[in-house]
Amino acid sequence: MTLPANVRIVEVGPRDGLQNEKALSTDTKVALINALSASGLQTIEAGSFVSPKWVPQMAESHDVMQRIQRQNGVTYTALTPNLKGFELAMAAGADEVAVFGAASEAFSQKNINCSIAESIERFEPVVAAANKAGKKVRGYVSCVLGCPYQGDVDIAEVVRVSRLLHELGCYEISLGDTIGVGTPLHAQRMLGAVAEHIPMPQLALHFHNTYGQALANLAACLPMGIAVIDSAVAGLGGCPYAKGASGNVATEDVLYMLQGMGIETGVDLDAIVNAGHAVCEALGQSPRSNVSLARLATANT
Ligand code: HMG
Ligand code: MG
Repeated sequence: MTLPANVRIVEVGPRDGLQNEKALSTDTKVALINALSASGLQTIEAGSFVSPKWVPQMAESHDVMQRIQRQNGVTYTALTPNLKGFELAMAAGADEVAVFGAASEAFSQKNINCSIAESIERFEPVVAAANKAGKKVRGYVSCVLGCPYQGDVDIAEVVRVSRLLHELGCYEISLGDTIGVGTPLHAQRMLGAVAEHIPMPQLALHFHNTYGQALANLAACLPMGIAVIDSAVAGLGGCPYAKGASGNVATEDVLYMLQGMGIETGVDLDAIVNAGHAVCEALGQSPRSNVSLARLATANT
């Protein structure tokens, strides 16, 4: 058991964060992504090409992606549930795309209106088109530690769906505790089971913080070698099809913890804190990051 020397942060705030907050103007979204781009992040999920009827907050993703000031070395990614989404993402200039499945049948139906098996069929042409276009495809598996509709989720099902996405050609599998119900030993067992079939460097953790367990779960999994973590600036967001799910683990909190553990990310914590304050001001809410609140309190004394 050794800690990784480096962790890559996948900043999902502009997508997973803002998809579940009140709709912001395109200007504010662009300003957020520009601020994040200057922080040293390598990967920013900048939007989502899904039905605007289902998720109106992401309806301007094309304009957002067209208007951001692209920073060298930053990969701007987008969610694409089907071929239509992939084509829209390419037209908008996404560098990379992500398909998103689930380890729960009930969640798959509510989230993307099809069964797990049908979702894999829909993802096949996305991966084929991405291969042709020379674009990488990431694969999300939701509900890896619990489902808002069916409750417990069998770890064997998490393994099965992760393997299907991996075999399909996804270069990285992001394991999502969509409703933030997991606890550290459960997270370890789940990650350990998936890592028996997919190499650890190709896995990422995507934990929401609904029950305040996300950092503890990440800390439990880091010594297993996980080296990619999804997080959202200011702890924004949640999933519109996972009632009660609060935000992702806050990027500020993850960075502070990793710094303390001597793990490099290349990301400037203060730049993320500032980007988080600005977007929270636009949303009319406080950051959901203890580190951000602590920095604010110190700055005001
Ligand atoms: P559907 O209704 O089954 O799709 O939705 P359809 O193919 O029958 O098409 C219906 C209409 O949607 C048609 O338009 C299509 O053109 C349009 P109409 O003829 O009625 O005017 N349409 C689209 N429009 C734009 N972009 C597209 C697209 N596809 C079809 N790509 C669909 C299926 C997947 C589209 C729908 O269910 C959907 O958009 N769902 C949104 C799900 C979503 O965004 N959820 C949140 C993200 S997932 C998440 O947050 C979890 C994650 O963070 C990991 C974790 O935390 O676990 C990733
Ligand atoms: Mg999520």
